[in-house]
Amino acid sequence: MKVKEEFIKFFESKGHVHIPSAPIIPENDPTCLFNTAGMQPLVPYFLGQPHPFGKRLCDYQKCVRTVDLDEVGDTTHHTFFEMLGNWSLGDYFKNESIEWSFEFLTKVLKIPVERLAITVFKGNDEIPFDKESYDRWLSLGIPKERIATTTEDNFWIAGEGGPCGTDTEIFYWRSEKAIPQQFDVNDDNWVEIWNNVFMEFNKDGKNITPLKQKNVDTGMGVERITSVLEGVNDNYESSIWQPLIKEIEKISNLSYQDEKNKKAMRIIADHIRAIVMISGDNAGCVPSNTDQGYILRRLIRRTIRYAKKINIDINSDWITNLALVVINEYHSYYPEILKNKERILQILEQEKNKFNKTLEKGLKEFAKVVDNLTTSCIDKDLAFRLYDTYGFPIELTLELAQEQNLKVDVEGFKLKFKEHQEKSKAGATKKFAGGLGGHSEIETKYHTATHLLNAALKVVLNKDVHQKGSNITPDRMRFDFSFDRKMTDEEKQQVEQLVNKWIKDGLEVTHCDMPKDEAVKSGAECMFIEKYPDIVTVYTIADVSKEICGGPHVKNTKEIGKFKILKEESSSAGVRRIKAIIE
Ligand code: ALA
Repeated sequence: MKVKEEFIKFFESKGHVHIPSAPIIPENDPTCLFNTAGMQPLVPYFLGQPHPFGKRLCDYQKCVRTVDLDEVGDTTHHTFFEMLGNWSLGDYFKNESIEWSFEFLTKVLKIPVERLAITVFKGNDEIPFDKESYDRWLSLGIPKERIATTTEDNFWIAGEGGPCGTDTEIFYWRSEKAIPQQFDVNDDNWVEIWNNVFMEFNKDGKNITPLKQKNVDTGMGVERITSVLEGVNDNYESSIWQPLIKEIEKISNLSYQDEKNKKAMRIIADHIRAIVMISGDNAGCVPSNTDQGYILRRLIRRTIRYAKKINIDINSDWITNLALVVINEYHSYYPEILKNKERILQILEQEKNKFNKTLEKGLKEFAKVVDNLTTSCIDKDLAFRLYDTYGFPIELTLELAQEQNLKVDVEGFKLKFKEHQEKSKAGATKKFAGGLGGHSEIETKYHTATHLLNAALKVVLNKDVHQKGSNITPDRMRFDFSFDRKMTDEEKQQVEQLVNKWIKDGLEVTHCDMPKDEAVKSGAECMFIEKYPDIVTVYTIADVSKEICGGPHVKNTKEIGKFKILKEESSSAGVRRIKAIIE
């Protein structure tokens, strides 16, 4: 059964519109490296912004979670995964949400009711017991022994702040053993398969306040539900992973059934899928030493090391062949990976060649030092040498050390790293935890300033200058654009002056929704036209700028403040980068 198709069909029959998956790398959320849940791209709409497709949406979303990277290799953790979701934006609430989840599981997926159990929010000082959900489940035929209540586990928020609410989680009995009458949340044979979050609050610091509208946000992992439906206890034995596992067996000449190969094969299968999805995203991520690029590099290097462990000839075409399996399996759902196929393969080949050259030497160096070690700790100097000379991400050194029961002076390494690297990775480390910060007032100003800068560059340089990327934090904005030479000081000054003139002019910022074709025809700018839905929001700043964008923006440019360019530099071939602030 094709669970993605069935899910979409079911929710379409309940009046939902199927929206395309957002890119894996969030565009306007610098607090987060990757989309970690289906709801993440929808935050503005929970807060009240009308969605161009209406109030009932559903999709399958590409997600990446890197906090559990060390756990990948077991039967259930995955770096990349797909999340099915249905949403109500101020439309239906608990009643329909629960009823439809139940109907989909029992009627469409034909899961016997006896195998299901439920948790609902127990209540605390701030928020009462969720009686409505509890009663709804009872009314659908779930016996009360199978409904448990918890406090912490039944409240959901992405990260630290933003839209949130109580949730009700659905569990499945995944075991051959007799199903116990009484549901015990701590019994691992009960696995969570679906989460329905009732997003009616907003969290800001410690404060929880009601949102303007009551939303529903649900999430069901495709990998897990598939293995449940196929009756396998190891996700990698499900149809999702089999093509990859088979290819790995072929290139290594080893069997997955042999217990000692399992961990390495799972890691390779998991990582190659994440690598293809990250490098094939339209955001154009390449391996680097910061942010998403660092994760990508780590994943590729870890894959190579595990390939070596199971005797794959790492200089052969193995990694290309594995990437092709992923592209083949997923391109009908995510066409960008086919479009960006050459880039994906090139990235893999380059990174493989780079790392293969030093991996062997680095491993020898590691073994030599370990032999002569007088303490049980790898000091910061060795950790840094392995990083600097042999390209070992610190996490790799840690893994190697753990295999020998050794510790690593990670803190010392980090200090040394910082000293040597102006471009500190600290910001990225903070972001690894994930989480959505929402958009502060200052970030909103930066968003609008970005549109003005884009427009000013077209006036001062030429009209063929196009945006290639943008990144906003509360402290600064970064803007990448296509242009093939350094800007002169005069040009920089002119751009700055023009943006400041538009700010001073107090131009009105308006927005409206329209069909994508019409938006493009009307001259609205955008970065990746193919990833937008058929109906898009166009932001217009007087007669200065018109762009397809999700917002948020100020209402009038005079709110922005003074715009100042700090730096103009090369970003990559044919792409320049401006760093600017508003004061
Ligand atoms: N956003 C909720 C989750 O990820 C549905 O579990």
